[in-house]
Amino acid sequence: MAHHWNLDPEVTFLNHGSFGATPGIILEEQTKIREQMERDPVRFFESDFPKLWDSTRKSVSDFLNADMDGMTLVNNTTSGVNTVLRSLHLNEDDEILVPNHSYQACWNAVDFVTKRSGAKTVVVEIPFRVNDSQEIVDLIMDSVTENTVLALIDTVTSPTGIRMPFEILTKKLQGVGVDVLLDAAHGPGIVPLDLGELDSAYCTGNFHKWVCSPKGSAFLHIREDKKRLIRPLSISHGASFEGSEQEKFEFEFGWPGTQDPTSWLSIPATIEFMEGLVDGGWAEIMQRNHDLAVEGRSLICDAIGTSAPVPETMVSAIASVEIPSEQEVGPISLEGDPFHHLLMDKYGIQVPVFPWRHHGTRYIRISAQLYNHIDEYNFLAEALSEILENGETLQGQ
Ligand SMILES: Cc1ncc(COP(=O)(O)O)c(C=O)c1O
Repeated sequence: MAHHWNLDPEVTFLNHGSFGATPGIILEEQTKIREQMERDPVRFFESDFPKLWDSTRKSVSDFLNADMDGMTLVNNTTSGVNTVLRSLHLNEDDEILVPNHSYQACWNAVDFVTKRSGAKTVVVEIPFRVNDSQEIVDLIMDSVTENTVLALIDTVTSPTGIRMPFEILTKKLQGVGVDVLLDAAHGPGIVPLDLGELDSAYCTGNFHKWVCSPKGSAFLHIREDKKRLIRPLSISHGASFEGSEQEKFEFEFGWPGTQDPTSWLSIPATIEFMEGLVDGGWAEIMQRNHDLAVEGRSLICDAIGTSAPVPETMVSAIASVEIPSEQEVGPISLEGDPFHHLLMDKYGIQVPVFPWRHHGTRYIRISAQLYNHIDEYNFLAEALSEILENGETLQGQ
């Protein structure tokens, strides 16, 4: 199915997880919306945009089985997480739980709000290798105290590629009075998400990753009882708008100031296009990508000489494996990992390799999307075997 995407045919692209990739036909669709906007920007923003914004929120809400009144669009998950955290009024005794597999940018946002208020970030230490999801549930629940007010829970973790038991965690945490902020950056299109059933206080996630819509298309859903508390990062015209609470909520989030909304507005067409690519729609896409990631992971484990770190049920469409490293593992650097560069420069394989200092480990993470084929993971496995046999550098610098 690779012909639907504009990816470079010279590159073995095994990193859908970082930024997604958008089919060519959707980019054309986005251009059409942009042309409509530029034919008469005033008419577009004053008349067309409010209707398109509503129909996009409706489509997103239907896809996630969410109450549309609490659904807003944001540019990315980082903004969604910041929107919630920076609206909270924390007290000095409050604690926010963050598992040590959390995406560093979102973890940083937690640290920012706890530091400025004198509250506390409580890091839940979870090893990379776990036998089952119950281990994760127990470690997180054991970290709850009477001061815990919020937990940042990923649907799928970024560095370690673990499909978290987020459904049970949301139920258990909220059952003991801890609000859950679900980080569903790897959410729509990679794991089944039923926001009505989950009932998390907050959920934010990307459409530009696994639904493949243009970059800058994400959602933030806020449960009814929390809507008054949460304000957009950009305080704009909506703040002085005199209408109903619901109208004000929609206006505040819908108009953060002038920007190009075409990524948001391309979401409905992307959902429809992608689900039409296979007979079984989104359920089949998720199953195929999961199966390919599991198969690919097994090839890579064999090449590295290691075993599967987590059971298959804890894999979605991304999977991480440890890369042997003799040197101390530092923070993620702007220069990138030399092992990543070696795979890219010598073999043309685009796959992330990065240090995760919270585990003192470097990981290689594969992704599987409809355009991938098992031969690509075989090629990566051969490259890894060759590099290891030749004793080429595996050291993080
Ligand atoms: C778990 C997780 N949270 C948040 C993000 C941030 O996504 P974005 O860059 O779209 O804000 C990512 C990105 O990879 C992620 O994996």
